[in-house]
Amino acid sequence: MSGEVILPVHVRDLTYADLPHCGWSGSSLHLLVVENELDRAAAGVAEYLAVCAAKTDLPLAIGGIDYELAPAAGSIHQLATMPALQSCGLGTTLMAAAEDRIRGRGLVRAELGVEQENPRARALYERLGYVVFDTRPDSWDEEAPDGTLRRYETVCAIMAKDLRA
Ligand SMILES: CC(C)(COP(=O)(O)OP(=O)(O)OC[C@H]1O[C@@H](n2cnc3c(N)ncnc32)[C@H](O)[C@@H]1OP(=O)(O)O)[C@@H](O)C(=O)NCCC(=O)NCCS
Repeated sequence: MSGEVILPVHVRDLTYADLPHCGWSGSSLHLLVVENELDRAAAGVAEYLAVCAAKTDLPLAIGGIDYELAPAAGSIHQLATMPALQSCGLGTTLMAAAEDRIRGRGLVRAELGVEQENPRARALYERLGYVVFDTRPDSWDEEAPDGTLRRYETVCAIMAKDLRA
C-alpha cells in the first residue's frame, strides 16, 4: 500500500522552547550552538528560523542567519531538515524565508558555506541561484559517538546570491 499526505507548514522564529524538539538536527553540543544563536538573535545580530507543521507547530526544518559574518550580507547556516522529511521541499521553503528576512533588513546579498563533501546540499543551493565565489577551510567542535569532543576540519565552498535577481 502507498499513500500521499499533504503537510501544511508555516515558517516562524525558532524559540528556546523548540530546542527539546530539535534533537534530530544534531548532537547535544549542536543544540548548545543553536541555543547560542538564539541568544545572538535576541541581540539582533542573527535570526533563526523554523519550518513547522501547521497543526503541531513543531519544527521540521531549521536554519540560521548570521549578520556579522560577512559585510553587507546575511550568511545562512546550520540548515537542517528532519531526515525522514528530506527531499520534500522544506529546505527550499526555509531558504526562501531566510532570503526574505535578509531583504527585510535592507540587504541584497545572501551567503553560505557548504562542505565540498556535501554535493547534494550544494546542488540545492545552485538550483536556488547561489554561485561559488571562494573556498575556505573551516573547523568546529563536534561530539564523537562516545561523547568526547573532537575538532572537525573541512573545506567549504562559499556561495552567494544577489537577492535583487
Ligand atoms: C541540505 C538539506 C537542508 C536540504 O533540505 P531538504 O528539505 O531536503 O531540501 P528540499 O527538499 O527543498 O530540496 C532537496 C531535494 O528535494 C527535491 N524536492 C524539492 N521539493 C520537492 C517536492 N515537493 N517533492 C519531491 N522532491 C522535492 C529537490 O529537487 C532537491 O533534490 P535532491 O534530492 O536531488 O537534492 C537537507 O538535506 C539536510 O538536512 N541535510 C543534512 C544536513 C546538511 O547537509 N545541511 C546543509 C549544510 S550546508
